[in-house]
Amino acid sequence: MRLRNVKNAREKLLSSPYFIENPMEYKGTWKHYFQGKVDELPSKICVEIGCGKGQFLVSMAQKYPDVCFIGIEKYESVLVRAVELASNFSLSNLCFLALDAKEITNVFASEIDTLYLNFSDPWPKARHAKRRLTSFSFLKLYDEIFAGDAKIIQKTDNLILFASSLENYSQYGYVLQTVCMDLHHSSIPNVMSEYEMRFSKLGEKINYVEAIKKKSEK
Ligand SMILES: C[S@@+](CC[C@H](N)C(=O)[O-])C[C@H]1O[C@@H](n2cnc3c(N)ncnc32)[C@H](O)[C@@H]1O
Repeated sequence: MRLRNVKNAREKLLSSPYFIENPMEYKGTWKHYFQGKVDELPSKICVEIGCGKGQFLVSMAQKYPDVCFIGIEKYESVLVRAVELASNFSLSNLCFLALDAKEITNVFASEIDTLYLNFSDPWPKARHAKRRLTSFSFLKLYDEIFAGDAKIIQKTDNLILFASSLENYSQYGYVLQTVCMDLHHSSIPNVMSEYEMRFSKLGEKINYVEAIKKKSEK
């Protein structure tokens, strides 16, 4: 994500109803947080790590009003664009957090249905492999956030990241439910992210995996 310094990013976030300033206060109670907004206990809460400017989640929140969505982004100057995009709509099933994925277990406990990883930074050099959001250290953190079976849906143009993710999921006990190396020429239902649109316009094939790990195998 190209970073531009956004003036008063923090102030802009704080003035948005989509931004949660102290997400740690809601750990373990996110369903109740949304219940206050959508009037009933949501059936599912889904998270995107590295949501960027929010295009994917804003579209998902519109398409699936019964599901609640939380976007995590480590740069406030990027997250400002997500809350600005969301402000064009009235979406009670969506919110955004300024958070590094390393902190995810401080914010969620056994309450997430699906984790989306869309076009995560690929860290293609082998010496940076531990920084990938599908490295074992991150998979271990994710164990703590899922309500039932762990479910990760990942999309990427990058084959190094894709191959290492498939290998890590398998070694960590995930079953690769769906694997596709050309998502846009498949029948898999899809909502596009900003980066996905960009890569697709360049003629890049989009890789997709849905990986599931049974709760009892955690
Ligand atoms: C390449 S962009 C993809 C954005 C969006 N998901 C999409 O598909 O259009 C990756 C995003 O992940 C964010 N990111 C990278 N590492 C992160 C981390 N450890 N925690 C939270 N966000 C992270 C980056 O700041 C960037 O906005």
